[in-house]
Amino acid sequence: MIEFILNDKKITTQEVSGTTVLDFIRYHQHLTGTKIGCREGDCGACTVLVGRLEEGQLSYQSMTSCLMPLGNTHGKHIVTIEGLNMKELSPVQQAMVDEGGTQCGFCTVGFIVSLSGYTLSQSKPSYRDAIAAIDGNICRCTGYKSIERATENIVIGLKNKDLSDRITWLVERGYLPSYFKTITERLAALNKAISKKISSKEKDAIIVGGGTDLFVQKAEEMPQHTINHLFDEMYLNKIYEKDGKCYIGAACTAEDLRSSSIMNNIFLKMYEYAKLVSSTPIRNMGTIAGNFVNASPIGDLTIFFLALDATIILNNGITKRAIQLKDFYQGYKQLEKQKEEHIEQVYFEIPSKNNTYFNFEKVCKRTHLDIASVNSACLLEIKNGIIIKAHLSAGGIGPIPTYLIESSAFLLGKEVSPDLVRELNQVVQTEISPISDARGTKEYKRLLLRQLVYAHFLTFFPQKLNIHLVLE
Ligand SMILES: Cc1cc2nc3c(=O)[nH]c(=O)nc-3n(C[C@H](O)[C@H](O)[C@H](O)COP(=O)(O)OP(=O)(O)OC[C@H]3O[C@@H](n4cnc5c(N)ncnc54)[C@H](O)[C@@H]3O)c2cc1C
Ligand code: FES
Ligand code: FES
Repeated sequence: MIEFILNDKKITTQEVSGTTVLDFIRYHQHLTGTKIGCREGDCGACTVLVGRLEEGQLSYQSMTSCLMPLGNTHGKHIVTIEGLNMKELSPVQQAMVDEGGTQCGFCTVGFIVSLSGYTLSQSKPSYRDAIAAIDGNICRCTGYKSIERATENIVIGLKNKDLSDRITWLVERGYLPSYFKTITERLAALNKAISKKISSKEKDAIIVGGGTDLFVQKAEEMPQHTINHLFDEMYLNKIYEKDGKCYIGAACTAEDLRSSSIMNNIFLKMYEYAKLVSSTPIRNMGTIAGNFVNASPIGDLTIFFLALDATIILNNGITKRAIQLKDFYQGYKQLEKQKEEHIEQVYFEIPSKNNTYFNFEKVCKRTHLDIASVNSACLLEIKNGIIIKAHLSAGGIGPIPTYLIESSAFLLGKEVSPDLVRELNQVVQTEISPISDARGTKEYKRLLLRQLVYAHFLTFFPQKLNIHLVLE
């Protein structure tokens, strides 16, 4: 039995947990305001808000309902456009009207939902964050300028938002219907009353995290399967430090990494790295373990953690074992994992603040909401001018997300210089086997990886290397 609140209404349903939220709200609840565009997470026409209670605090995130399994709604508040509509237009809707932010209107619902979700954010209003909130919404008509102006107006309207009681503030000013004020209490009661376990532990059950890979690859099949939902398992959702290591639960999302104070403390550019991964709604859904197990040769999170020489913990329900992430990949989509095992955690040694350098780079056909042609990450530790630790990873240059073993080893004991970086590239080129495909020819991918390796070193040592490498 799946139980949640849909707009202002309590839902209790026996519907299979692998149905998409999109199909449930349109075909079972007849709420057709939510649109079907691509069904692949790319367009944002199907965006809904997902509210959940954590330690008594209610927070909302945008998600694409076309990829969200119904089972992941359990114990939550799902908001569609019908749940935002009131007698009068909200300031968000009014701003879109005033600025001509809608033409055919097909995308508009998604934009309104994402922007209304933004008004609920717990941080101080900023244009940068408001624009980021609609990075998963595509419009084919407006040319975006009018939507950007509407967004600017919305941010101005939020200037005096009371962050200590934002829902009351938003309700009183007509941004949200008044029932939002009852949701914290109602979700608390619901979560107390319901059984947390809706997952199937059957042997053949498919593990689902956020569903952002599975519901693209197996859209038709998923409602037929029994599902083991791991997205909301508490023990898989924590990020913590212990004894110089950082531990991350397998169900943590790319957004959890982006907003984690621990991760931001370790990686000064965490925000920039995370922004290169998919879009806000997909980052709110896609988990780390999903990225690892999907085993795409260009998985961004996989490449990131490979360069941290991370270890994963596998659990078969009885025993656990640890293996290095770089040993997890045996061949194209072949994993060192038994069927009954799930990933529980990933951990890595926290790089020392002094003398350690880390960088992640990604090249795509467009900067945002695109998968990589080639991506790469690099970690170096230097002592007395000599490299004492080196880990280099790269994606899009072979059948698996690749830890470049020989290239990493080549760097040890050496001093950084332009010649070293050129020689490193020669070793890198012997270790990779890119193929030509829609993302570029194999020659182009070799060139890209060379540039990304240079980019790592130019980022680490701009003074020392700049002129020499740029002249290449
Ligand atoms: C529009 C769009 C844009 C995207 N952009 C990017 C991008 O820029 N970069 C990128 O790297 N990826 C991107 N992706 C891919 C995807 O979002 C990520 O790979 C994501 O991390 C997958 O996680 P998930 O939880 O949604 O996986 P799911 O679809 O839930 O699962 C994927 C696989 O992992 C398995 N699995 C999940 N959790 C576990 C576990 N704990 N233990 C064992 N197996 C498990 C599942 O059984 C399945 O085989 C994009 C996807 C979409 C739809
Ligand atoms: S229908 Fe396009 S993102 Fe869901
Ligand atoms: S108004 Fe037509 S797609 Fe945006």
